[in-house]
Amino acid sequence: MPARGFFVTGTDTGVGKTLVCSALLHALAARGVSAVGMKPIVAGAVDVDGRWLYEDVEALRAASSINAPDALINQYAFRAAIAPHIAAEREGVSIDVEVIERAYAKLSALADVTIVEGVGGFKVPLGPHVDTADLARRLNLPVILIVGMRLGCLNHALLTQAAIGAAGLQLAGWVANTLDARMPMFEENLAALNERIAAPLLGVVPAMPQPKPQSVAELLDLGRLIP
Ligand SMILES: Nc1ncnc2c1ncn2[C@@H]1O[C@H](COP(=O)(O)OP(=O)(O)OP(=O)(O)O)[C@@H](O)[C@H]1O
Ligand SMILES: [Mg+2]
Repeated sequence: MPARGFFVTGTDTGVGKTLVCSALLHALAARGVSAVGMKPIVAGAVDVDGRWLYEDVEALRAASSINAPDALINQYAFRAAIAPHIAAEREGVSIDVEVIERAYAKLSALADVTIVEGVGGFKVPLGPHVDTADLARRLNLPVILIVGMRLGCLNHALLTQAAIGAAGLQLAGWVANTLDARMPMFEENLAALNERIAAPLLGVVPAMPQPKPQSVAELLDLGRLIP
């Protein structure tokens, strides 16, 4: 199978991108497709016994079916859980999408499919003149949109769809991830999105007490993503 990649974005930060990326990696491996996760930019470290760990990077590494060098999985890591361009400025770092592009070229050669998790939503600034949409465009990858199902998601999802189109990228699919188990009119909102998003719905993930990527993988339909 020729190497392929997807750029995973979300309607916001904290909407389940890492959970669904990890689930996609498991679902691919279950189909016999080798898959690796990439988190080029991460902001927010946790102190685990005196070691700074980045949960997204760890989760994607754990869900990948191949081992890859750390430097290819993540290029920019900022300890503070703040907007990446502000974190970068505070640390005197400039986020260079070419560096990420080169890492992607090497990483994607190691697996059949590479899943790249963005940072926050689709238009998060990465520096004075570059944002996440530019990164996705530079990598030239079809996009998977994770919609965090809660009040306000229709506007966020449709704005994101418009921004993906404006970047000249294909929306390959979307996932409805339930953030609010008691969301009123859930089915009506799901239907409203389905009518307006011009890409296949890859799965509906319920709110889970202890979400595990392996369980979420079983809810995803990769048939229309990977022929
Ligand atoms: N369907 C779900 N049911 C229960 N908890 C969920 C669900 N989806 C996500 N979560 C939880 O919500 C939190 C945020 O999810 P996740 O880290 O995947 O979001 P993200 O979009 O990757 O965030 P970030 O913008 O920080 O990268 C995590 O603790 C995750 O376990
Ligand atoms: Mg994440």
